[in-house]
Amino acid sequence: MDEKNRIETLNDIKIFTGNSNRALVERVCDYLSIPLGNATVGRFPDGEIDVKVDEDVRGADIFIIQPTCPPVNDSLAELLILIDCFKRASSARITAVLPYYGYARKDRKDEGRVPITAKLVANLITKAGADRLLTMDLHAAQIQGFFDIPVDHLLAFPVISDYFRENDLSDFVVVSPDVGGIKIARLYSNHLHMRLAVVDKRRMGPEEIEVGFVIGDVEGRNAIIIDDLIATGGSICQAARVLKEKGAKDIYVAATHPVLCGVAVEKLKEAPIKKIAVTDTIPLSKDAKGLGSRIKVLTVSNLLGEAIKRIHTNTSISSMFTEQ
Ligand code: R5P
Repeated sequence: MDEKNRIETLNDIKIFTGNSNRALVERVCDYLSIPLGNATVGRFPDGEIDVKVDEDVRGADIFIIQPTCPPVNDSLAELLILIDCFKRASSARITAVLPYYGYARKDRKDEGRVPITAKLVANLITKAGADRLLTMDLHAAQIQGFFDIPVDHLLAFPVISDYFRENDLSDFVVVSPDVGGIKIARLYSNHLHMRLAVVDKRRMGPEEIEVGFVIGDVEGRNAIIIDDLIATGGSICQAARVLKEKGAKDIYVAATHPVLCGVAVEKLKEAPIKKIAVTDTIPLSKDAKGLGSRIKVLTVSNLLGEAIKRIHTNTSISSMFTEQ
């Protein structure tokens, strides 16, 4: 059935989730003023995932919101099993909503005998039966091309830029912590009328970062480092230190996905960072809450809810960002 006819046969919009970020999903449901769908996503005694959908979903437009955040393999397996379940229950259309797309950093063969896990995950989601993907701030936008189903790629940019707009930004500079992040940093720079700087970062291993020079003038300015995620905290903390060495004043960080694994929180506590703004694509760990008022969680629930509404009603999503 082509996309147009399929839309016409859709009945209800229904939202479901597994266990990876229920609080976010409840906020999305609040935005849409619809109840969260009834499903039990539990475990068999041997640890296998047990799913049962407890309401009729035949002919429904299903959105499964499940960031594949830590515990990443559990989150991914729950998502795949939920998709399979709705496909077999004769739902009209299934959209996998991954506010955070895990395994995204393994997106190419950069040495011999390594997998391209971001592509494998795309294959698994598609093969399980998803008709569309809705995601946010992918580590690399090209991952959209790993899917042969429609992908809507949202940016947390409107939420994060609104937060920083509350400050007088006249002496601020926006900093990309590596060359890969220049495009998104430029978006902030253009939108909030700030200068742009870039840190020369090289990754030597999963936890080993080497930071060289800074391109752009940061001396005597406050800096906002923009990144898609904080994992071990190595990139952000090294970037903050080098900016301080170059004479930056206060340093702020904005990162969409607070993965915050290992000793990330300890590193962030010691780094010369005044404030860290993250979003609720991933629940904040208990450890991270120890950062107190230095960490600010912004919600992307309205953005996700609006995008879901627009997918359901077949209206433009890109205009959510161009209308800014
Ligand atoms: C790198 O390209 C990403 O944008 C992040 O900067 C990086 O993945 C963060 O990882 P970590 O916090 O472990 O340095």
